[in-house]
Parts: sequence; structure tokens; C-alpha cells
Amino acid sequence: MILINEHYLKLKSSYLFADIARRVTSFQEKHPDMEIIKLGIGDVTLPLPKACLEAMHKAVDEMGKSETFRGYGPEQGYAFLREKIAEFDFQARGAQIEPDEIFISDGAKCDTGNFQELFAQNITIAVPDPVYPVYVDTNVMAGRTGSFTNGRYEGLVYLESTKENNFIPELPKTPVDLIYLCFPNNPTGATITKEELKKWVDYAHEHKALILFDAAYEAFIRDEDLPHSIYEIDGAKEVAIEFRSYSKTAGFTGTRCAYTVVPKACMAYDQSGKKHPVHELWNRRHTTKFNGVSYPVQKAAEAVYSPEGQEQVKTNIDYYLENARKIRTQMQKLGFTCVGGENSPYVWIDGQMDSWEFFDLLLNKAGVVCTPGAGFGKCGQGFIRISAFNSHENVEEAMRRIEKALG
Ligand code: MLT
Repeated sequence: MILINEHYLKLKSSYLFADIARRVTSFQEKHPDMEIIKLGIGDVTLPLPKACLEAMHKAVDEMGKSETFRGYGPEQGYAFLREKIAEFDFQARGAQIEPDEIFISDGAKCDTGNFQELFAQNITIAVPDPVYPVYVDTNVMAGRTGSFTNGRYEGLVYLESTKENNFIPELPKTPVDLIYLCFPNNPTGATITKEELKKWVDYAHEHKALILFDAAYEAFIRDEDLPHSIYEIDGAKEVAIEFRSYSKTAGFTGTRCAYTVVPKACMAYDQSGKKHPVHELWNRRHTTKFNGVSYPVQKAAEAVYSPEGQEQVKTNIDYYLENARKIRTQMQKLGFTCVGGENSPYVWIDGQMDSWEFFDLLLNKAGVVCTPGAGFGKCGQGFIRISAFNSHENVEEAMRRIEKALG
């Protein structure tokens, strides 16, 4: 008899964004004439930067000629891309990350979801609340939690991000082994200073813990003092893994390219207390379960680092940040308290009513899709997230409709 992994039965029936998509489709079927504006899932709307597009076209042509055709590439990614990443994303910021510490992949969602595989079943895991659901659900699937009771999984340590702590969680009160952090934060858009991040690095050293740092939104940081990478903090290389993505940075949500940094100095332990380099474990997993990102896509990602690419990426992100500013300003004008939207594409709004009710209200009365905060965890209840990924025109129209609906 084929038995299932019963841990899957503990999960909520569907992934948050699939659930929202289903509600939107059902609404659309009932109101076919209503033009819906989607400010829910963080999916980019601007086309690929020209530099990326040209590089990808050229690489596709290379694949069509026998002299330049390529079969399997290195699972960890081509050196041309890893070298650019090390230089531009880390060394330029004083973080000594080497190209062979970088693993190219097809997405930060997959990497943040898969990384937990390297660790023992009985570790204690801390996740922020609200949280990007992938961190939680993948640990549920792996059997590291109890059941879902009162909005939380038993066995997880929830790091509450609330108005009271400016959406920066405090250090856990009981020891934990694996810590998920995300800054600029999804969903709240909150950012962390170097001083605050240092506390987490120190905590990880003290407790022999590991930080999984999701920096998928770092390109939205405009405040010079904020860290773009956890490796800007002394000592982070021994205790932190960092996830990055071209999805939001360069419009690759449909093109798929990301990377994970696993410094060689980063260690985890076996039962006897012996140290093991996490790099070796991840390399073993990656080369076994992944066959690399396609050559044309890696060439497109490399073009992000060309002078034109850098300028085009900045222009696109500034475009979304202008949307975020409009959303924040308008929602504040309507009397809501907001966080995020300044160094982040997400605005986190205190709706002062049930999140799903607010979601339904905006969908039904304004034809605007947001993301209900409760979908990200208990501390998200009462909030909604509005994403800046859309055109200026649509964002302005959405704000007009929301004003009318709430007025
Ligand atoms: C989000 O809206 O939170 C993100 O788009 C989800 C993701 O990147 O997978």
C-alpha cells in the first residue's frame, strides 16, 4: 500500500497565493465586466531590462550553432555569473564572498524552501510572524512541527513582528537552532539596521545556530545606511546563508534565476558536536537534485551587472518605488497607519478590521486585489499588504477606487 507523508495533512489546504487566485477567479467569473487591478502577489509587470533581453537573445542564438552550443552547465552556475555576483553584490559592499560560495538556482522560493533538508529533524526553528509562508510550510512538510492550532504550528518558535517592536522581532527567549529572517521584509516591508542585524549574528554565534537570511528585496533599499547583505555584518559568514533573486530585482519572475550564498566558513554540527561545512552539504544536495539554470537565462542575469543593465534595473525599481510611495501616501491620507513602501515594494497597512474582510471589501467594492495579512500569520491579522508591482496608471486608479469604496 502506498502511504502518504502525513505531515502534508497538517498543512492548510492550499498555498496562500493559490487561495487568493482562486477567490479572484471566482469573483471575475461573477463580474466579467469588472476590470480587476492586481496588487496582491508580488509579481512584476515591467518587461525585462533591455540589456537582459539582448543578452538572452544572443545566448539563444549561440545555442543554435554547433560551435557555441552548450549542453549541461555546471550545476552551481556558470563562472561568468558567479564572478559578477561576488564582485558587484558583495565585494563592492565590503563583504568578502567568493564566486565558489555562490549557487545559482531557479528561485529563492525553491532555495528557502529546500535548505531545511540539510538539518536534523529535531532542531528548533524560529520563524517571523508574519512570515513568507514557504519557510513554515516546508518545515511542516518535513515533519518538524506539530499540528496547526489557533493559527500556529506547534513546535515552531514564532518571532512576533508587531507595531510595538516596529516590525523587527526580538531575539528568541528560548534557544533556537535555525532562524529565518527576511529584510527588507516580506510581507511588512520593514527594514533592519546593521546594529539590529548584528544582534542576530551574535545570537547565532552564541547558540551555534544558523540564520537563513532572505534578501530577495535588497534592490529596493535606497537608504544608504541599511545593509543589503547580512555579510556586511562582521562574523556573519560563519553563521548565515543568504538568498537573493533576480525576480523582483530584474523582472525575472517568469524567467527564473536566483542564487544562494553558502560561505565556506559556515558550519553546522553532527550529534557528537563535530563541525561540518554547510557548503559541502548544500553542494551535495544541489548537484544531486538540480541540473542548473539554462545558459540563456544565466546570460540574461549576467547582463544585470553591465553598466546599461545596472541603470535599467535601477529605473525599473524606482518605478515600483514610486508606486509604493503613492500607495503609502494615499492610504495614510485615508487614515491608515502604514509601514514599508520606502525601501520595499510592499506597503503593510493596519486595516483595523479582519484581514480577509478587508480583502473582500477591496475586491468587491473597488475591484482591487491585495493580500490579507492573516495569510502570513497570526500577527498579520488586521493588516493587509498592498504590492507596488503594477503600472503607475493602475496604482493611481486603484487608489481612486479605494478612496471611493472606503469613503
Ligand atoms: C509575494 O507576493 O509574497 C511573493 O511574490 C511570493 C514569492 O516571491 O514567491
